Amino acid sequence: MLDETQATDFKSVSFSETVITELMIPSYANFGGKIHGGIILSLMDKVAYVCAAKHAGNYSVTASIDTVDFLHPVEVGDLVSLMAAVNYVGKSSMVVGIRVISQNIKTGEVRHTNTSYFTMIAKDEQNKPVQVPGLLLENEEQVRRFVEAKRRKEIKQAYRQESRKIKAPVNDEHAQEMLQGERCQLQANYNA
Ligand SMILES: CC(C)(COP(=O)(O)OP(=O)(O)OC[C@H]1O[C@@H](n2cnc3c(N)ncnc32)[C@H](O)[C@@H]1OP(=O)(O)O)[C@@H](O)C(=O)NCCC(=O)NCCS
Repeated sequence: MLDETQATDFKSVSFSETVITELMIPSYANFGGKIHGGIILSLMDKVAYVCAAKHAGNYSVTASIDTVDFLHPVEVGDLVSLMAAVNYVGKSSMVVGIRVISQNIKTGEVRHTNTSYFTMIAKDEQNKPVQVPGLLLENEEQVRRFVEAKRRKEIKQAYRQESRKIKAPVNDEHAQEMLQGERCQLQANYNA
């Protein structure tokens, strides 16, 4: 699928490092007055794309996102900065690590909102995965991130195997056991 003769070069992490800073305007807020999680996710996808496309020199798509936990709410008027760097490359895949921080302009207080890892795939003109340049690691931090991303990938593969159990058939006896102590009840005319 991949043309091994393409992109045999290496690029440094700094070549594609990207920072986006955006002001959180009132139209980004939810009914509770805080910024919608979806706004932050959209910005993360944008910065991941820019970083991946710079490294690949090609159009890239998001294949998966490794966990998004919002650690703090973001307020209207905050400045949100998203720092993205390629942590790992496979053949056509790139793992882009993104650190998101929010800053209160008046107090200067900076809060870590979340860190997530986007797996981006480079595509060619025919919309097929295409090989990306290797990653030139220049310091200990970049080596650590590469190793951590590789471990994360291995754990995710193991999780995928394990999670097949989720779709195992649900029989009545097992269901009764699983529902025990849960906040649900079977409707009177429930027919198993
Ligand atoms: C992700 C996608 C490119 C994979 O295509 P595919 O034909 O299965 O490609 P391959 O099996 O050759 O895999 C290509 C690479 O993607 C990686 N990959 C595929 N699915 C993945 C997933 N769910 N998570 C992480 N990596 C994934 C493979 O490991 C492989 O990496 P490598 O080249 O570094 O070894 C394809 O499913 C796709 O285009 N999905 C839609 C993406 C999109 O539109 N995103 C925007 C969301 S709106």
